[in-house]
Amino acid sequence: TGYWVIVPAAGSGKRMGADKPKQYLPLAGKPLIAHTLDNILGWPGVAGVVVAIAADDHEFATLAAAQDPKVHTVTGGAERADSVLAALQYLSARTAPDTTVLVHDAARPLVSKGDITKLLSAGPIALLAQPASDTVKRTQADQGSPRVSQTLPRAQIWLAQTPQKAPLERLRGALQAGLAQHPEAITDEASALELAGDEPELVAACRSNFKVTHPADLMLAEALLQHRQT
Ligand code: CTP
Ligand code: MG
Repeated sequence: TGYWVIVPAAGSGKRMGADKPKQYLPLAGKPLIAHTLDNILGWPGVAGVVVAIAADDHEFATLAAAQDPKVHTVTGGAERADSVLAALQYLSARTAPDTTVLVHDAARPLVSKGDITKLLSAGPIALLAQPASDTVKRTQADQGSPRVSQTLPRAQIWLAQTPQKAPLERLRGALQAGLAQHPEAITDEASALELAGDEPELVAACRSNFKVTHPADLMLAEALLQHRQT
């Protein structure tokens, strides 16, 4: 009665601006995604991992983790939600409808075991998140010279991380409906579940579980991984 982990890894890493997708950039001795997968394979009770990779991916197969019998792959889609949905369809054909699924970004190598344990013991629909440490401003402008229209009450602001946890068919239905109705609003699993009427539980997580997005994130991740290995 283990749970499955879905790893969206089909992005191109535009904001990183490197010569290859960020998940394959070298970090403390191995590709970023290898850190993430080795981390996941050490979580207690993992039944299997489904990694969504790009249609033209030629690097995944070269990873040591690709040989692990627990690791499966599917072809991802245009947006992150499409990649996650592809993995959910794959699982749907193979496991029970109420199987617990954790979706975890390939680009978050540093999630801690302690936070995973907290997420696993939370309610059935939950996500790791971090209380905002900066004051959050809202603006009406999408571009140009933005001006503040409102300061949001900080105690009510949390920044969503991954993993995000839900029962397989609940999540598949919510993502499918969300993508059909408001595709632009579906930026994580919780957003789809919220649209479907759920109130995902927020589980406070370490700041080190940041998503490697910009070049400076890569340097910070490298330093933290090297620190952990020593
Ligand atoms: N992802 C995916 N399929 C997509 C887009 C993203 O599986 N069509 C994955 C990424 O590989 C990453 C995770 O979703 O592990 C979080 O996405 P993000 O950080 O936005 O990665 P990219 O989309 O690759 O980066 P960018 O938005 O800067 O292009
Ligand atoms: Mg992206």
